[in-house]
Amino acid sequence: MVDNQHWLDRWKENRIGFHEPAVNQHLKTYLPQFAVPVGAPVFLPLCGKALDITWLAQQGYEVIGIELSQLAIESFFAENSLDYERVESDRFAIYTSGNIRLLQGDFYDLRNDDLSACHFVYDRAALIAMEVTDRPRYYEHMLSIIPQASNMLLITLEYDQAEMLGPPFSVPTDEVIQNYQTAFSIDLLEANDIIDERPRWRKVGLTALRESVFRLESCR
Ligand SMILES: C[S@@+](CC[C@H](N)C(=O)[O-])C[C@H]1O[C@@H](n2cnc3c(N)ncnc32)[C@H](O)[C@@H]1O
Repeated sequence: MVDNQHWLDRWKENRIGFHEPAVNQHLKTYLPQFAVPVGAPVFLPLCGKALDITWLAQQGYEVIGIELSQLAIESFFAENSLDYERVESDRFAIYTSGNIRLLQGDFYDLRNDDLSACHFVYDRAALIAMEVTDRPRYYEHMLSIIPQASNMLLITLEYDQAEMLGPPFSVPTDEVIQNYQTAFSIDLLEANDIIDERPRWRKVGLTALRESVFRLESCR
């Protein structure tokens, strides 16, 4: 079972194959399409220590991330040579450095007043970190905490779930549409077979792996 302890253990044991050594290319390519006003808050669910955080901050946005692991957050600041302030609230430890605010705690403890005025959500390796049984709760909670007007760039993976246990989990496009279509108009920006770029997963048994990039535009 992939519970919170699973993720804390992965960080402790440095089993973080999901961490990308560079800023995500889809984020760089598609962010301009969203026309997010400079200075606006943007939200990164389950943010890890992604380099995307600093990149978004450098573009002039106020970055709000939520991450379970203290180790992940403190590694992020150390590896980016950023000083931070840490304060504890009733629900989170809040780390602030310039226009970056990382909340250490559980995504499901977020409330909509934590994300007020947020314009843009960037979901890379967050939805796909959730098991199929947990995803209804994830979609529902996401829609309850983000402001109605916010748009989202969502990156998913799809493969035969019988070939690998996950995480990452396979999230079918139909599922994304079913769960988000009441709130967003959904545009599939690109879908690519990326198995040749992930030899590690071919080794564990995957025969095909599709990465999909969605633009979700608020219609609420
Ligand atoms: C697959 S990683 C992706 C991290 C990041 N988005 C990236 O692109 O590198 C998923 C992350 O979500 C965190 N996480 C898992 N469940 C969480 C929860 N309920 N609340 C907050 N963070 C969570 C894990 O600790 C892990 O760092």
